Amino acid sequence: IIMLAACGDDSSSGGSSGDGDGVEEMTLKFAHVVAENTPKHQGALAMKEYIEAESDGKIELEIYPNSSLFGDQDEYQNLAANNIQFIAPDLTKFVGNNPQFNVPALPFLFEDDAAAIAFWDGEKGQEILTSLTDDGVLGLSMWPNGGKQITNNKRAIDSPADFEGLKFRTQGGQVLESLYSELGAGSESIPFGELYTALDQGVVDGQENTFSNIESKKFDEVQSHMTVMNHTRVDYAVFTNTEFWESMNDATREIVEAGLAEGTRVAREEAIKLNEEAYEIIKERGMVEIIELTPEQIEEFRSALEPVYEEYEEAIGADVIEAARTASE
Ligand code: LMR
Repeated sequence: IIMLAACGDDSSSGGSSGDGDGVEEMTLKFAHVVAENTPKHQGALAMKEYIEAESDGKIELEIYPNSSLFGDQDEYQNLAANNIQFIAPDLTKFVGNNPQFNVPALPFLFEDDAAAIAFWDGEKGQEILTSLTDDGVLGLSMWPNGGKQITNNKRAIDSPADFEGLKFRTQGGQVLESLYSELGAGSESIPFGELYTALDQGVVDGQENTFSNIESKKFDEVQSHMTVMNHTRVDYAVFTNTEFWESMNDATREIVEAGLAEGTRVAREEAIKLNEEAYEIIKERGMVEIIELTPEQIEEFRSALEPVYEEYEEAIGADVIEAARTASE
């Protein structure tokens, strides 16, 4: 192939691999752990469609849902090794790298998706998302999922005392672990891809997740009760490999960045809708008894979980917690 140099166009910079000013041919991989009918996968699909169309197929984006390529245990290392170029994990899975990723697990912190988005788009949120550069990993853009609901296979939960003696699966330790221990319950972090089996076999009694994840993975098949709590959140960010990100030439990066923006738009738009739809499907399936809490009952949980804030204020930062509290103002 003979490349024609663009005359008098001085826009090229930083592209390392071969193709001069043109869009580089490449196959990129995006791995995630959830099902197709979820805000994360819909965002990834929108990103793929945009990038492939705008690059005339020169850039391919392969998406691997359902932990089909890598799961919670190994996607981070494979991103750092540039075996894949994008992941979008639940942020609380990074608490071992930086305790500030506990923010989505702080009880009753964000009012809604808009508040969580405002925080992660803001100065403190951006600082946290870009705190993994020593590993060669860069957080690009926050994608919401939504508030988490409690499911379990033992009893109806409508007050803090109902947690006593139960064991719950968490996405990542630290704040979630403290939250359960405040309620007299145990916890264990288990990869998402193993959760259905863990619930089915009684390794844990319950778990917390968004309606969308509960419905699309059919956790209600192996649980008896679901309490609508919205006490913590599942939020993601799309992370990339820094070296890959910086190696793209301008023409390529422009398309990939615009594709990411399109994915972000769709993921943010779809989250509330997909969760509402999933809640309706769970109700229709009728596998779990559903408990909706009164404002007084929610208040009881809020005060029972207040000590978690004192415990984590230092590790997360009072300034970060304050920024999250006031994010939507
Ligand atoms: C979970 O592990 O429960 C979820 O956070 C998975 C996901 O990516 O939504």
